[in-house]
Amino acid sequence: MEKPVSIEVWNPKGKFRVISTKSMPGTRWIRLLTDQDCRVEICTEKKTILSVEDILALIGDKCDGVIGQLTEDWGEVLFSALSRAGGRAFSNMAVGYNNVDVNAATKNGVAVGNTPGVLTETTAELAASLSLAAARRIVEADEFMRAGLYDGWLPHLFVGNLLKGQTIGVIGAGRIGSAYARMMIEGFKMNLIYYDLYQATRLEKFVTAYGQFLKSNGEEPVTWKRAATMEDVLREADVISLHPILDKTTYHLINKERLAIMKKEAVLVNASRGPVIDEVALVEHLKANPMFRVGLDVFEDEPYMKPGLADQKNAVIVPHIASASKWTREGMATLAALNVLGKIKGYPMWSNPNLVEPFLNENSAPPAACPSIVNAKQLGLTASKL
Ligand code: GLV
Repeated sequence: MEKPVSIEVWNPKGKFRVISTKSMPGTRWIRLLTDQDCRVEICTEKKTILSVEDILALIGDKCDGVIGQLTEDWGEVLFSALSRAGGRAFSNMAVGYNNVDVNAATKNGVAVGNTPGVLTETTAELAASLSLAAARRIVEADEFMRAGLYDGWLPHLFVGNLLKGQTIGVIGAGRIGSAYARMMIEGFKMNLIYYDLYQATRLEKFVTAYGQFLKSNGEEPVTWKRAATMEDVLREADVISLHPILDKTTYHLINKERLAIMKKEAVLVNASRGPVIDEVALVEHLKANPMFRVGLDVFEDEPYMKPGLADQKNAVIVPHIASASKWTREGMATLAALNVLGKIKGYPMWSNPNLVEPFLNENSAPPAACPSIVNAKQLGLTASKL
């Protein structure tokens, strides 16, 4: 017998039962659902990560759709339970969906939504914050002040790395990687080296044009280079930020051997997914190379850290907050709710899941479409003409 799970209910008479496994920022997402005849149940359990059993208890016998979180294990057990309860709609409140077995969802006829388009700048800004914090040793210096250890200016106190004119390395130059690259290039006049299976044409054009602008201003132009191998980026860059998706090919992409070819005083940033780095190898590398610094938003076994990481002064560590701006989190909640609502209502798919502004405009009704369903093709869902 599953134990009862505590919930908060909105619009109890609503025809469609939609569950959110967590309370989410803002209230627009609730209103959008309740205005369309949904009864919204929000799980109010205190524990941070719900188990499969908790979610089974939430789904119960009748459930039309679920909004879930990236900490949850959405596989065959949950999708078959949702399908048995009559539900055909699920959305992760996240752009990444490595916690979701999409094949299991498709097999059970359940659409899987995600929330691209609202996280790009917010996530890139966090990667930029980690780059700066690590390069300029902000956290160590802050701890030093709070400990009352500052007794006067010293030439060697917390000396870090200058970014201007150095090389920024981006691994995975998709939406977030490109936005991050632009921030570092525009803000700090860094040169770019990137590695991606696809050519980042818009990013290259931007760097060329910005370089020409700087030159016409009498300044040193910035440059770009598309690396033939990831190793070229690791060898040449002074700051390296990781922006791949997590799959079999990117698991432990950064391992002992690859750490060893990076510059001794390089900065490595990860705001993608933890298992992209072999964290045990990273801890050893940080211990052996005190001038090497890392900025991490994600960890291999979240919410845990590998032994020794927390003791390393050359690591800046934050708890998976890359998408945590108010605008982005409210937008993610809205998009996740509209994915679920759209599927329940039989709406078509939005034509470009990255151009989601029409769904986020508070002053108008959202389009009658699902913002982003990752298994739309497999389920034969139709595209919107909007
Ligand atoms: C956050 O990590 C996300 O994938 O949305």
